[in-house]
Parts: sequence; structure tokens; C-alpha cells
Amino acid sequence: MPEIKPTTSLEEITALSKRRGFVYQTSEIYGGLANSYEYGPSGVEVLRKIKNLWWDFFINKREDMLGLDSQIILHPKTWEASGHTTSFADPMVEDQITHKRYRADHLIEAFLKKNPIDNPPVVEAMKITDMDQFLKEHQVKSPDGNQISEVKNFNLLFETSIGVIADANNKVYLRGETAQGIFSNFKQILDSNRVKLPFGVGQIGKSFRNEITTGQFIFRTLEFEQAEIEYFFDPEVNDWQVLFKDWQEQMWHFVTKVLGVNEQRLRWRRHDDAERSFYSKDTYDLEYLYPFGWKEVWGIAYRTDYDLKQHMQFSGKSLEYTDPFTLKKFIPHVIEPAVGINRLFLMVLCDAYFPDEAKNRLVLKLDQKLAPYQLAVFPLLRNKAELVNKAREIFLQLNKKYSVAWDERGNIGKRYLSQDELGTPYCLTIDFETLENDSLTIRHRDNGLQERVQIKELEQYLADLLI
Ligand code: GAP
Repeated sequence: MPEIKPTTSLEEITALSKRRGFVYQTSEIYGGLANSYEYGPSGVEVLRKIKNLWWDFFINKREDMLGLDSQIILHPKTWEASGHTTSFADPMVEDQITHKRYRADHLIEAFLKKNPIDNPPVVEAMKITDMDQFLKEHQVKSPDGNQISEVKNFNLLFETSIGVIADANNKVYLRGETAQGIFSNFKQILDSNRVKLPFGVGQIGKSFRNEITTGQFIFRTLEFEQAEIEYFFDPEVNDWQVLFKDWQEQMWHFVTKVLGVNEQRLRWRRHDDAERSFYSKDTYDLEYLYPFGWKEVWGIAYRTDYDLKQHMQFSGKSLEYTDPFTLKKFIPHVIEPAVGINRLFLMVLCDAYFPDEAKNRLVLKLDQKLAPYQLAVFPLLRNKAELVNKAREIFLQLNKKYSVAWDERGNIGKRYLSQDELGTPYCLTIDFETLENDSLTIRHRDNGLQERVQIKELEQYLADLLI
């Protein structure tokens, strides 16, 4: 079997994203802000579609799931209870001259890439002391070639304060994960819904982490959107391994069938004991072959009853569930599938990237459910009123049902190439023949095929192609 490779390089995908309005650097006019990106007019459409598909698949279409929208700023005790204030940290070293900070694990990964060794360590599984020893043993320097400090933990939570005086009493945090809003609302959800275990709660929202590693585009950012599910169950009734496997299958199905990503660039990786968070009994990452290698898109962990127990202890409130039939009282266990929407976005964009050398064009073969526009409508010439009027009529008609782009600039060939880069699956051209026999040309993005279709048959024709 030929070796499977990433579809593109980070430089190419970044350039396309900027050129076609998918992703921009944040505050570019001020020189940019590290690890921050904006979603432009094309990107925002794809992002929204991914979120809607996730919500539809995991919340609306399942009887056992509920949605939630909790706040970015929660009571600060939340983060003490969850352990984030003490152990939500990355291992860092400091350049002794420039005082710039670097992730120790990333320096080790970069070192190993340049200097392959026999039996390299699993970097994800290294403890702080292992990293420190490795960096010393191999005399690893900072990217600027200077000595580095010993490895220390650096907390990722963003702090801020409520009110005018910033002191310890009004210190709060921007949430580091959406999950804790689900746990802290667990009692209210139980009290206000007729739910029965097993059931899950999902939400999509912004999370914030003080990430300092640069150069990974939208893969690792300060601000990002998570779509997290907490699936609660009684471990005496449901076998956690069966539920866990079922969630893995759902995640795989969503990525390959709903988002249309190539299975060959996906794999599961299990965390070993050293890498796994202390509260988790089992964790897997669904990884995608990004331009910079196999990396986590989506994680799934069996968090047991750790979080609810912690919040019960810190709040003094009961977070127990009472079985309505047996009246058994207990703290449910939880399985957590947690994904970053921005990582799904980057995966989808990379996977669709197709340099079509035979036709000398670049195509984004996005699933039609994800493309910023499903259709584009063009009048052949922009200075012929009859063509423009007819094309406008068709555009306005289709715009009621589909997302449609309009373009009348340049020659038709260039307009096709422009829509190919945006991933528009079908382009409709109104030409002189349209005025004679009420037909138009439909051009297919993936194979360049052009077909003539009668306008009166257009509705049915498109209904068969698009959802
Ligand atoms: N509640 C569990 C949790 O937050 P995580 O593995 O730290 O687990 C879940 O994050 C997902 O959020 C990851 O799989 C990834 O897709 C996304 N994610 C985490 N940090 C991110 C960052 N700095 N930028 C973009 N996405 C991130």
C-alpha cells in the first residue's frame, strides 16, 4: 500500500485560507496577535455548517441528548473543583537570553525530528522530570540557539477580574473547557427535565487557553470553539466499555460520513498510563494526518464520577441522581467526547485540498454540505443586459433555497477557477442559448463536466444533487 501523506503543506493551506477569505490573522493591521485567527466570509460559513451538523447529529437527532449554553465566566470555585487552577498546565522552558518561553515537549519533538534516535520516547507520555533529563542529556537549546531553563509548569487558564478593583477576591477565569459548565449545571438539568440515565448533555462554545506555541495555524489557538458531550450513566447498569465503543463509532461516523473525510487519514491512538489524565480510566484520541503530522482532532475519555464528586465537595450541594424506579441514589459516571470545531475545520479544509495538475487548477473538494456556497450563478457577459437580467432572476430564485454566489467579473474560465478554490460544487451559466431555448449550463466542480439543463427542470435537477 502506498504511504499515506498529508494532502498539503501548512504554507499552502494558510495561503489559500487568506487568499479566499477562509481564515485571517487576528489584528493583522497591527502586526498580528500570536495564536489568534479570524474566520473570513468563506470560513465563517464552513464553521457554522460544521457546528450545525454536529448539533443536528449529536443533539437534535438523539433522544438521549440535551443541549446547553453555559457562560464563559463561571464561579471561580468551578476551576478549583475541577483541578484546573492547580494542574491545568503545560511544561515550559525559558530561553536564558531572550526570556522567550517554549513548550518543553515541542522542543523535544523538534529535536527528535532533526536527530532521530533508536527507541525514541513517547513525548506525550513524558513527565516533567523525564523532559528535563532528556533536554539536559541531549543539550537541547532554544530555537534561538541559547541555553534554556529547567522545565516548569505554566498554568493555561486566562485570569481576569470582575468589577473595578483587581484583587484576589474578584479574580475569575475565562473557561478552559466547556465541560465544567455541564457538570456545574447537572443538578438544574436534573431538576428541570424528565431525564433518565443514560443521557448526555452537549454544548458548543468558546474556550480559552494561554497557549504559547506558535506556528500551528488554527490548530492551537488562544481562543477556540469546543463541542463537548458529557454522557452520564449508571456503571452498575451500563458497561462503560460498550458505551465508550459506541461513542467512538459515532465520532468516526460523523467525521467520515457526515463531514466526508478520507478514512485513510484518520486513526485512533490510545493514551498510555503516563499520558492519561489522572481522573480518566481510558482515553483515546481520534487523530488526523494534518500537514504537520498525526495530531488529535477529537478526544474521548471515561472521566468516571470524578467531576461531579469534586463539584459536590466544593459546592456542598448534592449532585446525586435518584433512579425513578428503584430509588437508588448515586453519582453517575461520565464518558466525554470532546472536540475542537476549529480542528474539525482545519481537517476538512486540508482533506478537501486538491491540486488538479491535469487541469491546472486548485480545487477544494468540500462535501456539498460544507462548501461556503452550494451554487454560483454567472451571466456569460456582464455588459449584456438580457443575460444579466435573466441570470439575476435565476440567482434570486435559487437564493431562497440554497447558498448562492454571484459573479460577473472576468471570463467564464477564471470564474470557474475562482469557485473551484472556494469549493462551490456547481456553477450555472446563463448564455445566449438561454435566451433562445430557456436552458443553462451546469458545470460540475470535481470533474469539470458541463451539462445543459432546461430551466423548468432545474429545481428537480438540483434537488437530486443538493440537500
Ligand atoms: N474537556 C476535555 C478537554 O477539554 P482537551 O483534549 O484539552 O480536552 C478537547 O480538548 C478538544 O479541544 C481537543 O481534542 C481539541 O480538538 C480542542 N482543543 C484543545 N486545545 C485547543 C487549542 N488550544 N486550540 C484549538 N483547539 C483546541
